[in-house]
Amino acid sequence: MEFISIQEALNKKKGKVSLRGWVYRERGSNEFKFIVLRDHSNIIQCVIKKEKVSGKEWNDASKLLIESSIEIEGELKEDKRAPTGYEIQVSKLKVINFAEEFPIHKDQSPELLLDYRHLWIRSRKLNSVMKIRSNVLQAFRDFFLNKGYYEFPPPILQPLQTEGGATLFEVKYYNKDKTYLAQTWQLYAEATIFSLEKIFCISPCFRAEKSKTSRHLSEFLMAEMEAAWIEFDELLKLAEECVFFLIQEVLKKNKNELKILERDAKKLENIKLPFYKITYRGALKILKEKENLEIEFGKDLRTIEEDLLMKHFDRPLIVTNYPKEIMAFYKPIDPNDKETCLCFDMLAPDGYGEIIGGSQRDLDIEEMKKKLKKDGENVKNYEWYFDTRKYGSVPHGGFGLGIERIIAWTCGLDNIKDATGFPRTMLRYKP
Ligand code: 4AD
Ligand code: MG
Repeated sequence: MEFISIQEALNKKKGKVSLRGWVYRERGSNEFKFIVLRDHSNIIQCVIKKEKVSGKEWNDASKLLIESSIEIEGELKEDKRAPTGYEIQVSKLKVINFAEEFPIHKDQSPELLLDYRHLWIRSRKLNSVMKIRSNVLQAFRDFFLNKGYYEFPPPILQPLQTEGGATLFEVKYYNKDKTYLAQTWQLYAEATIFSLEKIFCISPCFRAEKSKTSRHLSEFLMAEMEAAWIEFDELLKLAEECVFFLIQEVLKKNKNELKILERDAKKLENIKLPFYKITYRGALKILKEKENLEIEFGKDLRTIEEDLLMKHFDRPLIVTNYPKEIMAFYKPIDPNDKETCLCFDMLAPDGYGEIIGGSQRDLDIEEMKKKLKKDGENVKNYEWYFDTRKYGSVPHGGFGLGIERIIAWTCGLDNIKDATGFPRTMLRYKP
């Protein structure tokens, strides 16, 4: 008989089925053995009765430990007491691998689960997160492909900083020049829009973050877009529509996973367009009036301020016009408020912080040089980038969405480390 997935068996509801997977739970007596079988799709209870199988099969069944891999054939029937509402009376059992005693037990510390990540990746929690992550990646692609964007992956080895020298990862390989792992695709995207006009990517980014937080990884996926001719208001609209679409796709396809993760789907369902929009100055005003917290103009909003601010918003918030002096060199001055830039962050509710950073791009080479010099950069290294402003320069802009950040939020995770398969942080680079 052909193997089907556990979910397909559950949908089928009755009849003979062949399944394969791993032992998720087991318990037994002299006469029968209960196994909960898992595969990628779900779990199902199976009962092996001594009288219904051969002597060898019974003997094998009694030796099965958690995570053994097996194939079974049996009769499916409804059983309200079983964990997913159905049970299989096993008529054939084939053991593919007798697992050793599994090293992960109940209630283990997060650090141990990270040490055993190569095994913990099998957990229902991570299985659910990875399904949502896969769906979000697909939804991001669908969103932009449907709007006529091209997928364009950037180089990862780059000779320049984009988001500040402090978090650069240096790669020791080229003797003559310094090279770094990508902080963002942005400078290459800005060059490429002169060919493809509207592009997106989902690509690894690296930041040598100097602090341990529940929001920072040293390697993460960023989903980015860049478009020629786009104006700031359009960019904001695109960002909110994109995030809204991703949430809708998760609600449409991942109800089961949200349930396993005990994520209150209502909170996501209540999110409506448009998102809230305020300026950085407006944010300072809210912090002062509602939180009695005085922040000087020119100070970046830290996690603590973002969290206090988000107490007042139940859906994502777009904060525009951060002070020019603390922004990256490519963010242009807003002609209507010259101390600030045409840039934005999108903050998620429920304490998940910044999920998107984006901006209009500066077209003024001299302004950019001025800021780069102030930041201690060698402007000579940026000559190739300035070329993009010399040959047919056009207004353009883009944004980057942190995939693990949006996953942590949609899944309701305590720590961003669980939003990715094998997290890399300041302290963790194994397994
Ligand atoms: O705000 P950031 O630094 O923006 C950029 O890199 C722009 N060049 C993007 C662009 O305009 N194309 O990073 C964008 C997003 C952040 O909002 C956050 O969600 C995520 O990337 N991010 C991180 N996620 C996990 N760990 C880190 N260390 C992150 N740093 C940024
Ligand atoms: Mg940012």
